[in-house]
Amino acid sequence: METDHTVVERRLLDRALRPDTVALDAGCGRRTRLRDYRDRIVRLVGVDADDDAGRANPHVDEFVHADLDEALPFGDASFDLVYANFVVEHLARPQQAFAEWHRVLEPDGTLVLLTSNRASPFLRGGDLLPHRLRLLIKRRGAGVEERDVYPTHYLANTPSRLAEATAAAGFEPVAVELVGTAHRYGARIPGAAAVLRTVERMLPAARRSTIVAAYRPLPVRNV
Ligand SMILES: C[S@@+](CC[C@H](N)C(=O)[O-])C[C@H]1O[C@@H](n2cnc3c(N)ncnc32)[C@H](O)[C@@H]1O
Repeated sequence: METDHTVVERRLLDRALRPDTVALDAGCGRRTRLRDYRDRIVRLVGVDADDDAGRANPHVDEFVHADLDEALPFGDASFDLVYANFVVEHLARPQQAFAEWHRVLEPDGTLVLLTSNRASPFLRGGDLLPHRLRLLIKRRGAGVEERDVYPTHYLANTPSRLAEATAAAGFEPVAVELVGTAHRYGARIPGAAAVLRTVERMLPAARRSTIVAAYRPLPVRNV
């Protein structure tokens, strides 16, 4: 079982990136791991509905304040890469977002996304907890700041729902990997990470907590 989503992400990005990639970080927030790929990304645009977070992001060349659930202010085929790191779970209209990502991608571009798998018992269990307790676990366990916790909808957040939603928007999967990342929530609690990793190892792949995937856009006539 792969337990590091960034390792899988690197494999998919290495395949997707060309020397002169123009990239869109959809839901860029305050930081982006695409900063580590600037040797191949000549222009990096970030989009986010949280204006403060996006403006504070030091890694993007341009920040655009926009709602991913609506039409995006970019022309067709503007980007070689659309990247969304833990954003899909927050979308109220993922179908609309995927359709826009398809529209703004070059025909030979790639969508790379990482998102939570709602089919994971850790995710389902977490949802049953009161909001304050979930915040506490995110803060104490994984070191997430409260201002970086956003409402979730999980509308395209099982392997099958994500497959349906991306296919309906005209994407074909290049790679879809299930990664065991529940240990992140125990990172700051002695012994907890090892227990979470062991439990997650016993689960079927489809129930691991994080989906890391790459897709290519199909021509519109095939959609
Ligand atoms: C968990 S954070 C991830 C931020 C960043 N991608 C990262 O890796 O640190 C989710 C981000 O998605 C953004 N987001 C959620 N729904 C959005 C929407 N409908 N339109 C634009 N941004 C959205 C939030 O504002 C937030 O910055």
